[in-house]
Amino acid sequence: MRIDTLTDDQVGAALALWAATEHLGPVDPDELAQVRRHDPDLVLGARDDDGRLLGVVIGAWDGRRGSINRLAVAPSARRSGVAQALVKQIEDRLYARGCRRITLLVFAGNEGGREFWRTSAYREFEDVVMFSRDLGTAETRPHGPASIDADPGC
Ligand SMILES: CC(C)(COP(=O)(O)OP(=O)(O)OC[C@H]1O[C@@H](n2cnc3c(N)ncnc32)[C@H](O)[C@@H]1OP(=O)(O)O)[C@@H](O)C(=O)NCCC(=O)NCCS
Repeated sequence: MRIDTLTDDQVGAALALWAATEHLGPVDPDELAQVRRHDPDLVLGARDDDGRLLGVVIGAWDGRRGSINRLAVAPSARRSGVAQALVKQIEDRLYARGCRRITLLVFAGNEGGREFWRTSAYREFEDVVMFSRDLGTAETRPHGPASIDADPGC
């Protein structure tokens, strides 16, 4: 097995792997292209000796914390250390940039994923809640909470 920065010719296989992986769902091709432009060496692929893509992962570094996203291993390649190798390589690359703590999100119902991270010595927090907001497109971008516009008479 080899772990390397994802190459252009592996992008199609990576998108297909994410789309087929439980608990993850598809990655938007434009978003992946943006990530690869911004941080090309934090998008990794694991491949076998025949070049077949076994697993993928995306790392991110914001200057303070690192994160690991979209870790996926093809079902036929699981439980043979592919994810561990991908995580080790992302950790090394983040560490080299100055990162000293990595955080990540896992769906609560993803027991296999949670066990993988526990086994990999990641601390689990049960009392953290995630918030997110979609910023839309240039045309649909919301400005301020919707409820502020809701009562123009006030
Ligand atoms: C979770 C996932 C990435 C693990 O990939 P993998 O290559 O099979 O993991 P590894 O072989 O490196 O596993 C290392 C260790 O983690 C633990 N582990 C991995 N998958 C596990 C599972 N499904 N259930 C329990 N423990 C698991 C085991 O201790 C394993 O060592 P062992 O096989 O010697 O027992 C893979 O199952 C997957 O793609 N799942 C769907 C997507 C997902 O959940 N991604 C991670 C959350 S973001």
